[in-house]
Amino acid sequence: MLQKSLTTLLLITLLGLFWFIGERSLSTLSEGQKEAPLQRFDEHDFYQLDKFPQQVDSPIHPIPPLKKLSPPLQARVNLGRQLFQDVRLSGNQKISCKSCHQLEQGGHDSRGGSTGTSGKLLRRNSPTVYNAAFNFRQFWDGRSANLSAQAEQPILDQNEMGGSWPVILQRLLTDPNMVSAFSVYPQGITAETIRDALSLYERTLVTPHSPFDRYLRGDESAINGAQKRGYLLFKKLGCISCHQGRNVGGNLYQKMGIYATEAQLTQLQEDDFGRYELTGMESDRMLFKVPSLRNVALTPPYFHNGSRATLEQAVADMGLFQLGRELEEHQIELLVLFLQTLTGDLSEEKK
Ligand code: HEC
Ligand code: HEC
Repeated sequence: MLQKSLTTLLLITLLGLFWFIGERSLSTLSEGQKEAPLQRFDEHDFYQLDKFPQQVDSPIHPIPPLKKLSPPLQARVNLGRQLFQDVRLSGNQKISCKSCHQLEQGGHDSRGGSTGTSGKLLRRNSPTVYNAAFNFRQFWDGRSANLSAQAEQPILDQNEMGGSWPVILQRLLTDPNMVSAFSVYPQGITAETIRDALSLYERTLVTPHSPFDRYLRGDESAINGAQKRGYLLFKKLGCISCHQGRNVGGNLYQKMGIYATEAQLTQLQEDDFGRYELTGMESDRMLFKVPSLRNVALTPPYFHNGSRATLEQAVADMGLFQLGRELEEHQIELLVLFLQTLTGDLSEEKK
């Protein structure tokens, strides 16, 4: 009798010990996995950097075409594409990134102004996500250092997607398809892997082979005479001092309205003071990230507040506000002809 209960006791203790060890190793495993750093990918993983060298000397550089991605990277990118269109990332499950960044329409919001889950019109114009990967910072005021950090802001912003991580994670974790799609990450479904997949996908949203890039790579006939004159004017007037590099912008901050009159400035500011809102420094008042002019012909309206309906208007005002000169009609026309040559190949995402 005594022997029997002793054996039972021993068995129970042993079982308990096994369970304890099992639990421990499980929990340390998942902790370890959660803490495992994400695999990083660099430009060489995404783009053909050397295949099409630049031939024409210019402060503007061509967009490198995508290369065939490695299978693990491609799997993450595919997941990011899915998430970009997934309304479960929004509080009311009605809005996705794509609602305001319409990839068939230049990657911005073709409605002119964006409304999120709250139904309120956002104060800033949605920039395009195409080539955003080449910007030195993200947002009009550059408040995010990279795409992964950027992605969280619209998701959590009450006026944009109004989401919350616990709810989003719970929704995705209960979807077997998502659980299996996220198996490309040893960490599984976490806020960080969601942001990472979105950012990797966005790095594939590039628009190479624009006529101007083909010209830079030595195809003289890729742009015509008037477009070339437009480019020369762009350089001569000084537009190029702010809009240059791969994105023809997106690589520095500049003041908007350097030469604007008091009345013009008031109208431009409305309730938006650019980087001043982040730093509180007087020198940052009306400082914005110089926007990229890639595909600019596809993305009206213009400026941080979407206040200019046409490219002609935006160009004329750039003359007035940034260069202190009234551009002539034919100059505006030539500049616009040049800007149109910056429209690249969006075909991948149009399909
Ligand atoms: C309700 C509309 C809306 C939704 C939804 C939305 N965005 Fe945006 N997006 C904007 C606006 C407006 C800005 C500019 C805000 C600013 O600069 O302050 C912006 C800026 C960006 C930028 C910066 C681009 C640049 O050139 O600086 C990126 C990248 C971006 N969004 C990606 C995303 C992703 C990824 C999602 C989904 C997770 C998303 N957006 C959802 C409206 C939206
Ligand atoms: C001193 C720097 C500077 C110069 C010079 C300059 N720009 Fe700009 N450009 C900016 C900034 C900053 C913005 C963003 C302004 C805003 O949103 O309020 C901008 C915006 C634009 C836009 C609108 C882009 C969009 O997506 O909304 C166009 C088009 C443009 N510039 C073209 C030109 C042309 C053409 C010239 C020469 C005639 C020029 N810029 C000269 C800094 C400059």
